[in-house]
Amino acid sequence: MAYLKPQRPEKVTAPSLRASKERGERLVCLTAYDYTMARIVDEAGIDIILVGDSLGNTILGYGNTVPVTMDQIVMHTLAVRRGTQRALLVADMPYGSYHTGDDDAMRNALRLIKEGGAEAVKLEGGRKRASLVKRLVDEELAVMGHIGLTPQSVNKLGGYRVQGKTAETARQLLDDAQALEDAGAFAIVLEVVPREIATLITEQVKIPTIGIGAGAGCDIQVLVIHDLLGLSFGKQPRFVRQYANLRETMTDAISRWAEDVRTESYPSDQESYGLPAEAANELNIKTPGKDIKVEKK
Ligand code: KIV
Repeated sequence: MAYLKPQRPEKVTAPSLRASKERGERLVCLTAYDYTMARIVDEAGIDIILVGDSLGNTILGYGNTVPVTMDQIVMHTLAVRRGTQRALLVADMPYGSYHTGDDDAMRNALRLIKEGGAEAVKLEGGRKRASLVKRLVDEELAVMGHIGLTPQSVNKLGGYRVQGKTAETARQLLDDAQALEDAGAFAIVLEVVPREIATLITEQVKIPTIGIGAGAGCDIQVLVIHDLLGLSFGKQPRFVRQYANLRETMTDAISRWAEDVRTESYPSDQESYGLPAEAANELNIKTPGKDIKVEKK
């Protein structure tokens, strides 16, 4: 099957995204949390890889992103770095890493760049984060904003709901997006907002918008890779389109292997190593190994 490859084969950078928006290119972003996934995602031609704090759900099983630490994001970013060549590598700033003052935020952002190998950082919040975004950008960092549903606020919000459904809150989102652009952010994630508002924001700002549950009007689409591959547990939000059922595939493969072991059909002689006859004679081993019948698959 022939797939539509990236419109541009060259390395994606934060500034190149704006030029892509101007040319009307449709770019794509996925999360990845380890070397293997990063290589697969990068080789599939995905333009942006995000080491999201969604790893709190997908990898660490916390149930939400709040407990995720800097050390965890740094470690996963480093693994993803090793598997990424073309895509722009963005690391999430976890909850607590930019909430105790701009100097702490700067130090933590630098860790993601210098220790993790990220090329950009992402943080949640609009106008209230604008001065911090400006500070980070002034210190040479590439910063991605994130507004709408901000999962780090789950305890304050009381759950995950569509944001910007009233005229007032929609206007606030437009102001948030503008403030982030003015502060120097190079792109903005719009999570779970009405598609009309996402489209308005996309038309209003010159930097690309990256939509998740925000409709087709955004410049770039992002999904959590576990949702796309069918590796997530529980009910999925309506914006998730699942392209594979890897949970089923993996469960089937694991169960078949366990069955083969239990019925002694694995490992076969071909899947193990025999003792050379000379050594067997010397050791007086008559029948080296067990006489296992090899089943033809
Ligand atoms: O943490 C994450 O994976 C994210 C994306 C859903 C945008 O922030």
